[in-house]
Amino acid sequence: MMSCPSPGRGYPSRRNLLPGIAAALALFTLLGCTERENRSGETTSDTNLKPTPRELFVENCATCHGVDGSGNGPLAAELRVTPVNLRLLKQANSGQFPTLKVQRSIDGRGMPKAHGLPEMPVWGRHWIREGLTEAEVTARTVLIASYIASIQD
Ligand code: HEC
Repeated sequence: MMSCPSPGRGYPSRRNLLPGIAAALALFTLLGCTERENRSGETTSDTNLKPTPRELFVENCATCHGVDGSGNGPLAAELRVTPVNLRLLKQANSGQFPTLKVQRSIDGRGMPKAHGLPEMPVWGRHWIREGLTEAEVTARTVLIASYIASIQD
């Protein structure tokens, strides 16, 4: 799943994907809200609650990796690289969940260029642009990584 593309490869196609990603994210956000309403039976104050790790995953990651993390999200077919089945990371790492590696893959900014994941958004940069602080980016990354750890097959 790791590939080493020549410099620059992949960027145009990723740009073209953005409208699709935005639409899909909007859809997932809507679905997430509906789910919250159904669970609590209230439609008012609960929108101020912090999203749960699962909600963060569904909102940010499910378009490609699938709601269940297995890699079958609606955008998966559009990508040149198949989104990783995130449920198998523990198995693939001799039975130990690679927490730090996953956190670094999600943030993306610390990845050496040649070993970055070309089709995977650089979430650290994205969330900073959205207005999160470094501490919030770290907290979110840790939460999502722990969620992924909890859905290992
Ligand atoms: C635009 C589609 C897309 C989205 C959205 C996306 N990913 Fe990925 N992700 C990929 C692809 C494709 C790969 C495979 C690596 C590559 O690009 O070479 C990957 C790889 C990964 C890896 C590396 C797995 C390994 O083997 O080390 C992790 C961890 C990961 N994604 C987690 C996430 C998380 C968490 C989110 C949400 C915050 C997310 N991804 C959102 C497409 C996506």
